[in-house]
Amino acid sequence: MTETSGRGDRGAEGVNAAPAQRVAARDPADVARAVEDHLACPRCHASVVVRDSRIRCSKSGCGFEGSITGGVPIMRTQLDRSFFDDKHAVMEHGSSEPGVRRCCYAEQAEVIEALIPGKAVVVDVGCGPALPYRRPGSSFLIGVDMSYDSLRANAEVDLPVYASAGDLPLADGLVDAIVSLYAIHHFGGADRRENEARVARGFAEFRRVLKPGASLLVFELSPWWPVWQLQRTTWNLVRKLIPTMDIFFWREGALLELASRSLGSRATVRRMRSHVPA
Ligand SMILES: C[S@@+](CC[C@H](N)C(=O)[O-])C[C@H]1O[C@@H](n2cnc3c(N)ncnc32)[C@H](O)[C@@H]1O
Ligand SMILES: [Zn+2]
Repeated sequence: MTETSGRGDRGAEGVNAAPAQRVAARDPADVARAVEDHLACPRCHASVVVRDSRIRCSKSGCGFEGSITGGVPIMRTQLDRSFFDDKHAVMEHGSSEPGVRRCCYAEQAEVIEALIPGKAVVVDVGCGPALPYRRPGSSFLIGVDMSYDSLRANAEVDLPVYASAGDLPLADGLVDAIVSLYAIHHFGGADRRENEARVARGFAEFRRVLKPGASLLVFELSPWWPVWQLQRTTWNLVRKLIPTMDIFFWREGALLELASRSLGSRATVRRMRSHVPA
């Protein structure tokens, strides 16, 4: 397994525009088939069965039930509103805006485009409403996100899935590659300890679902040290004051250490620094 972490050193973009109305059209029968073929119970990882838009775990006693709503499999017990639901219009266009593209996506897309062709099953964790890279036609691309509206808008993934990185609705050892662009800094919980636990759990899930020898490409933003220190010391208080706040940026060393620990000794973790143009 090769784990590669690339990072820029800029802050996150602003997200304030009106929601987009675009909704990807999907045939319900195709979605149901794709769910049974590619997804698994997020609790016990057994196969799932779809009947009349209801998704059920096949293992007796598990009891997980999801649904297919608006063409999106809901692989959690409930559909929660996400911070990104009314921001996805900006996410959609933001990644192609020239400055943002140059800083956060151009080089990263080249890396992804060079590494995912030939991979049969690819998962984009935190896929958002649009892909900032060209997907190979030969892969089956599953987009996982916690923003239902973003998933509804995303016409580029083969299967948009409402689920969390910490409870992937995928069987063990099924996936050939995972890509995740700028999602990990949104795994924030109630306090810094929970932030760390959620990121560790995400990496442990990546480890569980990846095949031996598979690739994991994580792209994140690493803040300048004084900014990170300020964030670290004030985060728990800020979160108490703003309970919807989910953004916690990781310094590259700390994230690499956490990734290595959670991915286990068989993983090779490599750092790749992107060069932010002046
Ligand atoms: C900054 S956006 C990046 C979107 C896209 N990858 C891009 O770069 O344009 C972060 C995305 O991660 C998603 N996200 C946040 N927490 C998540 C979680 N626990 N599991 C999966 N996705 C999550 C958000 O809903 C959002 O769509
Ligand atoms: Zn189950």
